[in-house]
Amino acid sequence: MTTLNVNGTERRYDGDPDMPLLWYLRDELGLTGTKFGCGVAACGACTIHLDGTAVRACQTPVSAADGLVLTTIEALSTDGNHPVQVAWRDLNVSQCGYCQSGQIMQAAALLKETPDPTDEDIDTAMSGNLCRCGTYPRIRAAIKQAAKGVRL
Ligand code: FES
Ligand code: FES
Repeated sequence: MTTLNVNGTERRYDGDPDMPLLWYLRDELGLTGTKFGCGVAACGACTIHLDGTAVRACQTPVSAADGLVLTTIEALSTDGNHPVQVAWRDLNVSQCGYCQSGQIMQAAALLKETPDPTDEDIDTAMSGNLCRCGTYPRIRAAIKQAAKGVRL
C-alpha cells in the first residue's frame, strides 16, 4: 500500500508499486496536465514536484512517493497565479504547449530553491526540459520576470 498526498488530497494506492507515477496521475486520477513525452526521463514533459523537488514522473515509481506530498501543474497555485504562471502568460511563452506544464513545474522548483537565479542557474536547471517549438528564449525571460515576483 502506498499512501501519498496528491494536490492536497490524501490517497492510498494498492496497485503495482512499481508503476510509474505518470500513469497513476493520468490514468488513475485523471490529472492529465502532466504529459508523456519520452518515457525515459529525457524530455521533462512529465515533471512534477515531490515534496517540492522536481522529478520525472515517467521514471519514478508510485512507491517512491510513499509518505510524500506530490504536486502537479493542476495545483501549483489555487488560482493560476503562481509568479511563474503569470510570467508565462505575460510573455506568451507557450507555442504548441505540450512541454509547458513540465517547464513551469521545473521553473517553479528552481525559483523555490534559487529565488534569484543567474543565466547559468537557469540553463542548468532547465537543461533537461526540451521544447520542440524552441521557446527557450521566452522561458528564460519568463523565469527572470517570475523571479522578481517570487522575491516581492
Ligand atoms: S516523459 Fe518523462 S522525461 Fe520525458
Ligand atoms: S511549446 Fe511546443 S514543445 Fe514546447
